[in-house]
Amino acid sequence: MKKTAVVTGASSGLGLEFVKLFANDGYNLVVIARNEEKLQELKRTYPNITVTVISKDLSKPNGIKEVVDVIRTQKITVDVLVNNAGFGLLGAFEDLSIEEQLNMIQLNISSLTELTYHLLPDLKKTSGKILNIASTAAFQPGPNMAVYYATKAFVLSFSEALAEELREVAITVTTLCPGATKTNFSSVAKVENTKMFSNAMSSEVVAKIGYVSLMQGKRVVIPGGLNKVGALVAKFLPRRTAAKVAKLVMTEN
Ligand SMILES: NC(=O)c1ccc[n+]([C@@H]2O[C@H](COP(=O)([O-])OP(=O)(O)OC[C@H]3O[C@@H](n4cnc5c(N)ncnc54)[C@H](OP(=O)(O)O)[C@@H]3O)[C@@H](O)[C@H]2O)c1
Repeated sequence: MKKTAVVTGASSGLGLEFVKLFANDGYNLVVIARNEEKLQELKRTYPNITVTVISKDLSKPNGIKEVVDVIRTQKITVDVLVNNAGFGLLGAFEDLSIEEQLNMIQLNISSLTELTYHLLPDLKKTSGKILNIASTAAFQPGPNMAVYYATKAFVLSFSEALAEELREVAITVTTLCPGATKTNFSSVAKVENTKMFSNAMSSEVVAKIGYVSLMQGKRVVIPGGLNKVGALVAKFLPRRTAAKVAKLVMTEN
């Protein structure tokens, strides 16, 4: 019987690359994002697997409940969950809209937490796997992207704790912490011209590293040598200094 992977944020960037990797390995897919046309295109691209399209805005409080309802109604058994949907915004906390920043918390934190909670019973039955997408932003405070960095610190901390809780029931939780990666993220977040994004990795390479690590059940993965060094340095720097460095790399060239 084919296994099923649920991927949030499947319509572009890393999510789309994960979809390709799962499809090539013969997984059925549940693909979630707002852009229904892009999701329907995925269904047409992969006629040999079952692709269930769920077009939902996960920054709305009821979004996940509706996703879970579809999965339950269609009696889909979930083997892999990829919590990938997310976005960032560049700007001082007080200058950005509070509504957009709260939507970011809802999407990057609450929807990831809620979907994980509701799919855990399924994942227990299948000895399943979870891949949560954090960021190198998780390792230090990020002035001028304060809420985004904080959401990713949550994802990393939550995922590492959950990995330990679930060790005995054989569910693995892998956290992928990409640095700058070429996707739509940079235009949504308006960070294209920052020093950080002058040397972005390809989404194909980053997703492949995440996919292989997920299959191996690794805990935390940082793609790219420079990103690994950056995360290590951030661990040893005083938090105040790490925040200053993060502010510097997020300034425009
Ligand atoms: N690219 C980077 O440099 C980078 C670095 C570190 C971490 N990350 C993380 O990687 C993950 C994937 O981002 P990406 O780089 O692949 O960016 P992306 O190309 O912008 O993809 C984001 C995905 O999330 C979906 N999404 C956005 N808002 C949504 C909402 N309200 N409801 C449902 N789906 C929503 C988008 O689809 P729709 O627009 O169709 O809804 C899209 O499929 C994010 O969690 C991001 O924080 C990215």
